[in-house]
Amino acid sequence: MEIRAVAVIGLGTMGAGIAEVFARKGLPVTAVEVNQEALGAGMAALDRSLARASSRGRLTEAGRAQIAARIRPASALADTADADLVIEVVPEQLAIKRQVLAELDQACRPDAIIATNTSSLSVTAIAAGSAHPDRVIGMHFFNPAPVMRLVEVVTTVLTRPAVTRAVLALARDLGKTPVQVSDRAGFIANALLLPYLNHAARLAETGYASLEDIDAAMTGGAGLPMGPLALLDLIGLDTSLAILEILRAEFGGSRYVPAPLLRRLAEAGRTGRKSGAGFYDYPASPAAPAADFGDIDNEDRSAPAGTVTLIDPRPAGGAGERPGALPIGQAGCVDPAAGRAADLAGLITAAGVAVSRDPAGPAGLTVVAVGPQGGVLDAALAAGRAPDAVGLHLSGLAAPAADRKTAGAGGTATAGAGGTAGGVPGVPVFAELVATRLTSASALAAALALAGRLDLRVVRAPDRPGLLVGALLCPHLRDAVAMVADGYATPDDIDTAMTLGCGYSRGPIELLERVGYRQVLGVLQAMYRQYGDPAFAPPPLLAELAAAGQPLPVR
Ligand code: CAA
Repeated sequence: MEIRAVAVIGLGTMGAGIAEVFARKGLPVTAVEVNQEALGAGMAALDRSLARASSRGRLTEAGRAQIAARIRPASALADTADADLVIEVVPEQLAIKRQVLAELDQACRPDAIIATNTSSLSVTAIAAGSAHPDRVIGMHFFNPAPVMRLVEVVTTVLTRPAVTRAVLALARDLGKTPVQVSDRAGFIANALLLPYLNHAARLAETGYASLEDIDAAMTGGAGLPMGPLALLDLIGLDTSLAILEILRAEFGGSRYVPAPLLRRLAEAGRTGRKSGAGFYDYPASPAAPAADFGDIDNEDRSAPAGTVTLIDPRPAGGAGERPGALPIGQAGCVDPAAGRAADLAGLITAAGVAVSRDPAGPAGLTVVAVGPQGGVLDAALAAGRAPDAVGLHLSGLAAPAADRKTAGAGGTATAGAGGTAGGVPGVPVFAELVATRLTSASALAAALALAGRLDLRVVRAPDRPGLLVGALLCPHLRDAVAMVADGYATPDDIDTAMTLGCGYSRGPIELLERVGYRQVLGVLQAMYRQYGDPAFAPPPLLAELAAAGQPLPVR
């Protein structure tokens, strides 16, 4: 089945992006929107995207004109009559999609392939709207469609093998990587991504951390390309809400219950970038939101007065770690407990500030070398230094060296000169700064000054299990392990989906191995103890892997 002409139905963010992908590969595209206003907006978005590529020197003016000329705007489904493949990209509601498919029975050629870009609905249920379900298939692109390389190809029990072959070949011709996935809600990528994004929205809503710090934690601290709230704005809050509702209906459980804030923002029309406002505001002209490093003034190079007292909260000897904490020297761990205080001490002294390990020393700033499980207040109280104590946790799972854009190289932060991470000049170490309920304003100010002097990129985190990075990342990694344990997807498919679909520099399984099973297990156990939510309970497979110290068997 050769595909020489296509039609795209629905010209929202995804529809416009998909039309661009086809047109860029030389295929004539009929872009159908029944609503004239939406048609105009979709074509304008297409023009903007092509103009952006041309202004960046990625397209010549002639190339841009050719691509634009391949896209024919249309306002009736009857205009799909010439297409070999019709892809529907209408809102994520089963009734609407079924209706479109029923109408396509009359409108398009009897042998045309009907693809749906549904992100979470059952393709089988959508196909039931067609008189020819054997030619219906899922073809799920990711936002921005011209950039993200993954296409999830979803077949049903009724899809004809020739249709599957043609769509797989088409995806490859488009320069994408198709991954064949089974017809379950959210497929692979959204089933993993949306609960994590929802968790971030909930943390924002409860004031756990600021919007900017939540986003910076996941870019600087976990090496992801975008923070979760900025990503929700990109996907669209209304779309995200619809996907969560579908996942909730299919799987149940608290991770899928949409954060009320998400619903309220969507109801208020703050649907994200496409409406000009979501979690952040997007002024009509340029620039992405200011997802920088919160209210920390990293430019402040003034030295904190006196000596910094450093407290290592681990019991002496290291053998008696807190329950679930990582044993010293665990392979693949970015935060071995053994190195934590030593790293901090090295970093602080390298910046010319004296460090004392004597808790009975002079009052001033006390830094607790806190682990990802929290416990700053306990350690500060035990040392009798609560008012002048803050916690500092060096972390950072950055992108691989080749595309490192954010803070924190892999491995424990090193105490290199000038506070560079992993020895990468100019890339500051990423850190979580914890002020407790008893931390004085002057201690916090001194800690911020110290962070500036150390060139640390800092986010503020509460004294809770996982702090901020771990609280978001560990449940996300847990979901990936649960997916493997359920036989839902292989580790490779999961990592491929998240690297190619969501731009992760490392997939969740690789991240898990890099952070260390025991580390993640320890944070999850602490979160489960604290909140009692089964969504944080570590899957038995994770506990087995941590005990065995072996990588996942299937890679
Ligand atoms: N349209 C077209 N091209 C775009 C684009 C857009 N909206 N945004 C960025 N680009 C291109 C740029 O032109 C640039 O290409 P060149 O290098 O060839 O010029 C490239 O992408 C990188 O762009 P930038 O340098 O401006 O920005 P960046 O490096 O920060 O990358 C990003 C931007 C690609 C969006 C990156 O942040 C990223 O990968 N984010 C994750 C996105 C993600 O997770 N998407 C999946 C969401 S889930 C989904 O979509 C499924 C669903 O069903 C909800």
